[in-house]
Amino acid sequence: MKGTIKNQIEGYPEIKSEIAVLRKHALDRSVERGQMMETINRLHPSRLKLKISDVVKETESTSTLRLVAAEGYLPPFQAGQFINVFLDIKGVRTSRPYSISSPPNQIGFYDITIRRVGEGFVSDFLLDDVSRGDIITSTAPTGNFFYNPLFHGKDLVYIAGGSGITPFMSMIREVTDRGLGREISLIYGSRTADDIVFGAELESRQRRYSNLKVHHIISEPEEGYQGLSGFITADLIRSLVDSVEDKMFYVCGPEALYAFVLKELEQLEIPKRKIRVEVFGPPAEINKQPGWPASVNPGDTFNVSLNGKHSIKAVAGEPLMNSLERNRLVVPASCRSGECSLCRTKLLSGKVYQPASVKMRKSDSKFNYIHPCMAYPLEDLELMLQA
Ligand SMILES: Cc1cc2nc3c(=O)[nH]c(=O)nc-3n(C[C@H](O)[C@H](O)[C@H](O)COP(=O)(O)OP(=O)(O)OC[C@H]3O[C@@H](n4cnc5c(N)ncnc54)[C@H](O)[C@@H]3O)c2cc1C
Ligand code: FES
Repeated sequence: MKGTIKNQIEGYPEIKSEIAVLRKHALDRSVERGQMMETINRLHPSRLKLKISDVVKETESTSTLRLVAAEGYLPPFQAGQFINVFLDIKGVRTSRPYSISSPPNQIGFYDITIRRVGEGFVSDFLLDDVSRGDIITSTAPTGNFFYNPLFHGKDLVYIAGGSGITPFMSMIREVTDRGLGREISLIYGSRTADDIVFGAELESRQRRYSNLKVHHIISEPEEGYQGLSGFITADLIRSLVDSVEDKMFYVCGPEALYAFVLKELEQLEIPKRKIRVEVFGPPAEINKQPGWPASVNPGDTFNVSLNGKHSIKAVAGEPLMNSLERNRLVVPASCRSGECSLCRTKLLSGKVYQPASVKMRKSDSKFNYIHPCMAYPLEDLELMLQA
């Protein structure tokens, strides 16, 4: 009877026969399991305890926090990855991802570089209320925005907007420090020349390494500014990069940059597989996103019922996760940009808006799961949260 039920599970007979083949022909590693787990836990711990060892002011609005291990060692990472930092601020337990700006060849510390966003809940806290010696917790480094030698080739174009320079700084530092044979063109958009982060270091590295070209584009230049200004358009990209063929494009910055630059790259007929993207945080004006219903205003408030027990209020113009956290309900999170699926939550009733950039699995849509880090309530909702 037991066997009959198992045989009805899709794929069970195939898995059973695969196990039989492995038992017969593969090396039995079960005795090494304990050792392997130890190595895995050392390389991929679920939480890191980090001490702020230094704070460096980069620009008027941006500072770097240097983080060292408060316990044990820092796990290795790939240039371009981020850590999700957990904080308690004014009684709210929340988190935000920050890309590591130091290179992976520096194994003693992680740098994170934070820019003020204006009334930002966490960025204001990290820029104003933490200091040397403070301890914070985070996830281990994670994320998919990194170089893959098998598919990305040797000719790389990095397009950064504002704080989106941080993962590129890690990549540039690694490539130049380690003398890796890759050609890099950085196209870096900033609002004003004073907003350029790491300007002096980029200049110095460009002078010393012939495989690094840096182009600054200023969107709101002061009168008399001599450099390139405006937006990062298809024409501008074409003029700065000798040929767009056979190059890998990486784009990182706020949602507005992603939306704009992706269209320009489409105009240049860059295939999607040649474009890697990291979007920093939710769109500033969610109601301006394609598909947002005109009948809902960002200030509209809805009831969100949780496990049929109690309910909270949630504002339409803000990710559901923020409203949950404000009510002391913490959903597991890593990327907070709809990508990693860690926050998957079952929606029992009601409608949410999720931007197109959210990576939904087929089963999410089929069984009505949402990603609260990038889901916005459009009506009253009923959610099933894990206990
Ligand atoms: C993978 C990844 C890496 C990142 N790396 C970096 C980095 O290296 N450096 C860096 O500075 N940032 C980085 N970010 C962005 C960072 O995680 C935060 O989003 C950023 O610091 C702002 O957080 P905050 O809490 O200060 O702002 P929040 O308070 O969360 O506000 C963020 C924005 O959301 C909107 N918003 C928030 N609340 C509301 C509301 N009630 N109504 C309407 N709109 C609202 C606003 O437009 C606001 O500007 C990264 C993001 C991701 C996803
Ligand atoms: S935290 Fe990654 S998808 Fe929500």
